[in-house]
Amino acid sequence: MTTLTQAFDHWIRSDFVALNDKLETAYWQQQDKANVVGVEDDIKQQLLNEGQQHIQALLSEGNTDEGFDNAFDLLGNVGLYMAACRRHELTEPSREQYSPLKEASALAMHIGASIGVTPRFATAHLTTHNRAINGVYKRFTSHPAEQLFIDYNTRAILAYKRAAECLLKIQPLGISHPMTPVLLMQVKEALLDVIRSNQCLFEQLDTDAFFYVVRPYYKPYRVGKEVYRGANAGDFAGINVIDMLLGLCQANDVNYAQMLVDKFLYMMPEDQATLRECMRLPNLMDAFLAAAPQHHASGWYQEAVSAFVQVCKLHGDTAIQHHNQLVEKYIAKPSGDMNTAHLDKVTASGPPLPVLLNQLALLRDKRAAAKRDDVFTRFDDLNTLRRSIAKDF
Ligand code: HEM
Repeated sequence: MTTLTQAFDHWIRSDFVALNDKLETAYWQQQDKANVVGVEDDIKQQLLNEGQQHIQALLSEGNTDEGFDNAFDLLGNVGLYMAACRRHELTEPSREQYSPLKEASALAMHIGASIGVTPRFATAHLTTHNRAINGVYKRFTSHPAEQLFIDYNTRAILAYKRAAECLLKIQPLGISHPMTPVLLMQVKEALLDVIRSNQCLFEQLDTDAFFYVVRPYYKPYRVGKEVYRGANAGDFAGINVIDMLLGLCQANDVNYAQMLVDKFLYMMPEDQATLRECMRLPNLMDAFLAAAPQHHASGWYQEAVSAFVQVCKLHGDTAIQHHNQLVEKYIAKPSGDMNTAHLDKVTASGPPLPVLLNQLALLRDKRAAAKRDDVFTRFDDLNTLRRSIAKDF
């Protein structure tokens, strides 16, 4: 890290948080908590100017080639600053054609393009690649709801990644290998961890604090001329590795492929490589369906298929939990209750809320192999496998 990078990192971890905290307190005290216009404009300017000074110095310093990790970290800091400017409406993508943050845009595009990621802050910056100093990792505010949200996002992401790694290990072994049920049991444990973590988040996260204080920092914003969508906890390869290796979702399905194409650059380069490889691999559902007629009476088949069916059920359960609990409680319901003057800003530059909710419901149903007449799911195939399990197994 150069001295300038360190100074910026220190600012992001200290004054930046203090300024955001002051602004959040002022917004929260209003009758209409979603309003930011005309509130504490001096503090907003201070945040804008202080960040701008750090970024101007870094831009002048130029490429110091400090390696991927430092470049990625610096991109995250520039991104946190740009996202905060968006949150306080110092920038607003529908109002502008180019980001007014010219230096920040230049630095973000320089770094993003050179390391092969999107030029904005991504989920990894706040979760899996967020270094803690004396027990405190980077965040926008010191509000406990924000830490709770990031802690449980990170837990679930790490657990999904564990599940994905075990599934990838089955590939070279094949479904009849004695280690396959062992690995599937580990996948099951990891998915149960996701469920437990999501349940804690659902029980503990305060709805208003999330909706008015945490989520606004995750809005889309412009870098240069392009609007980049907000970060979400799904921007890692693991969940899609699970979808595709189980065979619940297919890379040649138009909706699913669209989502994969859209999320590539929001992931770390190593995740991009894993996802690419996974798109070329065969899936376990097809392997079990092909083996069933000939091998359904074999001990190996019975042990492996029953573990596989349990894993599919749990993966579906995590998706149902995400949609029916988290998205419903923290997005759909509060949006319905919101002052209509701000409703357009809930989904600014993203798809309208009903469209987004339909897309998420479709993913839920594919992961849960639900019966749907309008789209292909593995409902029938999973039932075929269930019927192939012997009664005493
Ligand atoms: C996507 C809401 C927590 C995994 C999304 C989206 C929403 C959402 C609205 C659509 C993308 C967008 O906003 O533009 C929430 C809420 C959460 C939460 C309100 C908690 C309060 C989590 C957690 C995970 C997760 C803990 C676990 C890793 C995903 C994934 C996607 C996604 C994988 C991408 C779409 C998909 O593949 O299903 N989330 N989420 N979310 N979220 Fe969450």
